[in-house]
Amino acid sequence: MTKEDEKKLRREEEGATPSARYGYPVRNRRRTLCAFIVVYKALAGITALILWLVNRPKNTTKTRQRFSGPVETAATQVLSRHDIAVSCLPVGGKWRILRKICREQMFSAQRLDSSRVLRREKVEKLLDYVNECCVNGRVVDIGEAAFVTSLNLISNTLFSVDFAEYKTGSSQELKGIIHGLMSVIGRFNLADYIPILGVFDPQGIKRESEFYMIKLIEIFDGIIDEREKSTDKKNDLLEALMEISDGNQSDQFSRNDMKHLLLDLFVAGTDTTSGTVEWVMTELLRNPRIMSKAKKEIQTIIGKNKQVDESDISKLPYLQAVIKETFRYHPPGPFLLRQSDEDELEINNYTISKNSVILINIWATGRDSRTWPNPNSFEPERFLNGEIDVKGHNFELIPFGAGKRICPGLPLAHRMVHLMVASLIQEFDWELEPGLKSKEMDMNEKFGLSLQKAVPLRAVPNKQ
Ligand code: HEM
Repeated sequence: MTKEDEKKLRREEEGATPSARYGYPVRNRRRTLCAFIVVYKALAGITALILWLVNRPKNTTKTRQRFSGPVETAATQVLSRHDIAVSCLPVGGKWRILRKICREQMFSAQRLDSSRVLRREKVEKLLDYVNECCVNGRVVDIGEAAFVTSLNLISNTLFSVDFAEYKTGSSQELKGIIHGLMSVIGRFNLADYIPILGVFDPQGIKRESEFYMIKLIEIFDGIIDEREKSTDKKNDLLEALMEISDGNQSDQFSRNDMKHLLLDLFVAGTDTTSGTVEWVMTELLRNPRIMSKAKKEIQTIIGKNKQVDESDISKLPYLQAVIKETFRYHPPGPFLLRQSDEDELEINNYTISKNSVILINIWATGRDSRTWPNPNSFEPERFLNGEIDVKGHNFELIPFGAGKRICPGLPLAHRMVHLMVASLIQEFDWELEPGLKSKEMDMNEKFGLSLQKAVPLRAVPNKQ
């Protein structure tokens, strides 16, 4: 055995690992985890466990199937969502029906292909807005522009309606509600960890979440009412949902179920998608070599004047690698929160009792040097000619989760992120705000429901 092998073995045994940043286990994983479990149990009567997936648990398929329970928090209890919403229900009858609707009626390739033109139009609107900034010499807040675009891409895929505008001063009600809801759900809530505080809702998180959810549900009600009155048949997902709700399966999928499903899709889909676009653009601006390689690929394969389409994504391997590398380094959901639903389970010598809260640390997994050479360097090339994808097969890269609860919106997110980034870099040359150098960019992260950039990326577009 070489010295390097010995070191590797020792590191594995000790579980020397990642995220000192969070104060999580750094040297001896087993001891630290045990300490965490004991302290936590004493405080709240809940067992919590943090996992990261460097040393794969031996029986990975079983493992991901068994950690499939949702964790109950204040936000999941609002409006009885733990009995209605796909993101809050335990794996079982109703959850399966909702997931089947998502898979077959909403996010199948055929369904998404039929709404492709709508999304193309929304990306054109983004490009018009950027063009206007370009002509007037205005800086673009990339995260905000991507948020408005993601919101409209999702609202058009679902209802054929725009939910937001780029210009301030125009109707921003919906944007405000969704921003507000994301921010309140992403906030740390003491009552989630000390259940006795739940009734008092000391930080007002339950009340505030309820306020935003009711507003959003009222808006969905209005849209559904209007659609019911209309004789004009639309080719969107609402039409498919209404057919299910009115048809044979109406006892399994009520109007209330429909509204909560729509709410889930907006909450889970908007920030994650726009946050990813902002991080991709940040890394491209910080790494001019990678930007020019990605741009060259698009211009060579698609051309300078032909607009990129969703059907072109598979022809752009370098762009795909850039986006995978962004998912590795800046996963939009840094933790998967699950509850074990087996009586007792053993993983790598840890016994996990039923109802333990499991935090799967995706962020740390993506930065672990045992899996990724040069983990702190942004290198899309590591994904070229490789087999790793983001579909939950490779535990070292699971930005969309894995197993039964894997993100149902993955096929839509994949299309939206690639389309937005490809269009932004195909048409424009980007520079940072005057006075800012790429190596001095603030790369801090802000944790919430999704991992956002702490300081928004502001960049100047120039027409090519
Ligand atoms: C880059 C974009 C996105 C990322 C990174 C992402 C990531 C995730 C992750 C990590 C989960 C939890 C999976 C698990 O527990 O294993 C999740 C769940 C979910 N996502 Fe996404 N997501 C994205 C976009 C979307 C979009 C566009 C939609 C729909 C419009 C969506 C809808 C959902 C829903 C409904 C769930 C809950 C599923 C359940 O609990 O069964 N997501 N997503």
